[in-house]
Amino acid sequence: ETRDVAVLVGSLRKQSINRKLANALGQLAPASLKLSDIEIGQLPIYNQDSDEAPPAVWTSFRERIRAADAVLFVTPEHNRSVPAALKNALDIGSRPYGRSAWNGKPGAVVSASPGAIGGFGANHHLRQSLVFLNVPAMPQPEAYLGGADKLFDADGKLVNEGTRKFLQQFMDAFESWIVANSKR
Ligand code: FNR
Repeated sequence: ETRDVAVLVGSLRKQSINRKLANALGQLAPASLKLSDIEIGQLPIYNQDSDEAPPAVWTSFRERIRAADAVLFVTPEHNRSVPAALKNALDIGSRPYGRSAWNGKPGAVVSASPGAIGGFGANHHLRQSLVFLNVPAMPQPEAYLGGADKLFDADGKLVNEGTRKFLQQFMDAFESWIVANSKR
């Protein structure tokens, strides 16, 4: 059985380390997981005034998340927290009240930074929101990738065998997590 995993990357820039990481995770994932990138950079900033006549891109985003079997967050850290674009996507998906698109979807979080702490602050602030959104987020293995600017070659390939192995184990564990936490 194939499972549809919605991948949200917390960086919007073209050369994003986290985007490269998301691509690598897609290649390392077990065959039963089909990862697809969900764009978040086009979403207007959430405003409750728009709930009665929401922008079409909000609606299509919510529907896409609702259709997914699981969600994978791959994110940098902005000022020790979740990048605004990603928080905005969480907020949009959470509304209208009582109809959150996130509800019950198994999730996982990976953070990466050129810095030594590997985006720990973003990773855990994100988990705080996921608790409220009723997204069971895989507790282990944790993935805080420090020195992440050194992880990829010019073609976006992982240069380090140890990291490749770790990320493969992470995706294998996520598959089990999805199966164990799926309602279907
Ligand atoms: C950063 N960066 C950063 N890094 C970090 O480890 N902790 C932090 O708190 C911050 N804060 C921060 C704020 C803002 C506004 C920016 C633009 C950047 C640096 C960040 O890790 C670096 O730019 C990464 O390369 C961003 O990830 P992508 O875009 O390469 O995926």
